[in-house]
Amino acid sequence: MRVVDERGDLSAVRDGLRGRVAVVMTMGALHEGHAALLRAARRSADHVVATIFVNPLQFGPAEDLDRYPRTLAADLALCEREGVDAVFTPAPHVVYPDGPPVVRVTAGPLGAVLEGASRPGHFDGVLTVVCKLLHLTRPDVALFGQKDAQQLAGIRRMVRDLDLPVQVVAVPTVREPDGLALSSRNRYLSADERRAALVLHRALECARAAGDAGAGRALVQAEPGVELEYLERVHGTSFAADPDGDLVVVAARVGSTRLIDNIVLDDPQEG
Ligand code: PAF
Repeated sequence: MRVVDERGDLSAVRDGLRGRVAVVMTMGALHEGHAALLRAARRSADHVVATIFVNPLQFGPAEDLDRYPRTLAADLALCEREGVDAVFTPAPHVVYPDGPPVVRVTAGPLGAVLEGASRPGHFDGVLTVVCKLLHLTRPDVALFGQKDAQQLAGIRRMVRDLDLPVQVVAVPTVREPDGLALSSRNRYLSADERRAALVLHRALECARAAGDAGAGRALVQAEPGVELEYLERVHGTSFAADPDGDLVVVAARVGSTRLIDNIVLDDPQEG
C-alpha cells in the first residue's frame, strides 16, 4: 500500500493504476463503517484509493476542529487490512495551497435545511473538498455512507449539476447489534450516554412503523439526557419535509455529543 501526502506523488501513483479505480474519502478515525465502504469499493473496482483529510472548510467557528480525533497509524493499518492500494493523507496547505478557497461549490437549498441549518456553510465545505479530491484522485467510482444521507444527496446533486465524470455509490449504514449507527463520534459517549443514544434508532424504526415522524419524535423527547434537534420524514433528494418522503432523518445531542442517523423507508436491508 502506498501512502502519499503530496499532489505530485498522488498523481504518479494514480497514473500507475490500470483498470477501474474507486475512491473512499474519509476524515480518518476509521471504524467498521469505513471498512464496509472500503470493502464495497474493492468489489466495485480493480483498485481502491482512500483519502484521509480533516477538512477545515466544513467545520464552523463553534465546532472544534482541533478536537477531531486523529488516529493515523490505526487508520493506515485498517486500510492495509482492507486491501487499499493507495492512501492520500495531505496536510491542509496541500489541499488549499492558496489558503481558504475564494471560489467554492455551494450546496444550494440543500445546504440550508436540517444539517445545513444547524451547521451553516458545512455542506459548501464538504462539496468543495469532495470536488477537489475527485479531481486529484480521478476515480471511476466514489463510495459514500448512507449514514450521512444529506451529504450523499448533496454529492449526487453536485456530480449531476457539474457533470463530474464519476459514479456515486451509496453504502448502507453499519450498525452495532443493538442498532447504534457507527460513527467516529461514538467514542465520546459514556456508557450511560451510549445506552441513551439507542433511542435514535428505536425512534427511526417507530417512525417507519407509524409511517410518520411524530411518534419517533415523542420517543426521543421522552429519553432523559437526549436533546432532540430534529426528526423529520423528508424527500430523499431535496430533504424538504414530506409526509410521503422516502427517508426519516434524526439529529440529537446526547450529553455533549451530536449524533445523526436516518432510515430509508422502503429499504429491505433496514429493520
Ligand atoms: O464524510 C466525511 O468523512 C467527510 O464529510 C468527507 C466526505 C470525507 C469530506 O471531508
